[in-house]
Amino acid sequence: MIGIYFSGTGNSRYALETFLQMYDVEAKALSIEEEGMTEKIKEHEEIVFSYPVQYSTVPKILRDFVIKNSTLWGGKKVFIIATMGMFSGDGAGVLGRLLQKYGAEVIGGLHLKMPDSICDEKVLKRPLEKNIESVKNAENKIEKAVESMKNGNPPMEGIGWIYRMAGFFGQRFYFGHKTKNYTDKLKINTQKCIGCGKCTKICPMNNIACVDGKMVSGDKCTMCYRCVNHCPAQAITLLGKEVVEQTLIEKYLNEDACR
Ligand SMILES: Cc1cc2nc3c(=O)[nH]c(=O)nc-3n(C[C@H](O)[C@H](O)[C@H](O)COP(=O)(O)O)c2cc1C
Ligand code: SF4
Ligand code: SF4
Repeated sequence: MIGIYFSGTGNSRYALETFLQMYDVEAKALSIEEEGMTEKIKEHEEIVFSYPVQYSTVPKILRDFVIKNSTLWGGKKVFIIATMGMFSGDGAGVLGRLLQKYGAEVIGGLHLKMPDSICDEKVLKRPLEKNIESVKNAENKIEKAVESMKNGNPPMEGIGWIYRMAGFFGQRFYFGHKTKNYTDKLKINTQKCIGCGKCTKICPMNNIACVDGKMVSGDKCTMCYRCVNHCPAQAITLLGKEVVEQTLIEKYLNEDACR
């Protein structure tokens, strides 16, 4: 077994690592951003995916990864973990259907409510205690899912047409187009920016560069919110106008770590 994830603020990585620790300690969780993934995927028949839903669908970077490696999925048994702030309808199913198209068999799905990575929209922010609680609830849910899987009865959240209708009419019909392409909407406030270069190093799309001494965003943003949540000057925004409160999984694992 192998774990494959994409994660902007750490929720999906943490969910996968927690799952694998309980289900198969030998299995490694690997990011789609790592080198040499193709060979590693070929070696395993069972794969657990973990990813953050964006408008009840798959982030463009992960969709492109699956499509680019389309020949690898034939005959694989896949279990899909979809993390979300609130609701996704068929988060696990939407990636499952894409993998099925390339010959994979979907053996189950798990939906986990976790802290919302969109940190520049006030309406989506929850108090610290609520976020800590949501991570604890996710851990408990993972434990139950692992137990069921070991008993040969994996959860099937997000799989099937009822979930699919919920995902489509609940969100994709209105917002699905937002992840069709990469975006050029990321904004960097050059007045606030202190030029630390962190955003350029951590962006999975190499979408941010320093041009003539100023940080500039390109048109290849996959909306993962990693840079927005990491910038020490809170100078980056995407959907909102101002960073309300930065969100990273570590903050909710050790209460005292990031206050
Ligand atoms: C652009 C964008 C769109 C999102 N859309 C949804 C959504 O449709 N439903 C939802 O419940 N959460 C949504 N979220 C929240 C994330 O799915 C959630 O916070 C996820 O756990 C982040 O995981 P990560 O830390 O692995 O990136 C969205 C986040 C972003 C950045
Ligand atoms: S992380 Fe923030 S402060 Fe650092 S270079 Fe990027 S925009 Fe500027
Ligand atoms: S620019 Fe920021 S939000 Fe966009 S892909 Fe890069 S790290 Fe993610």
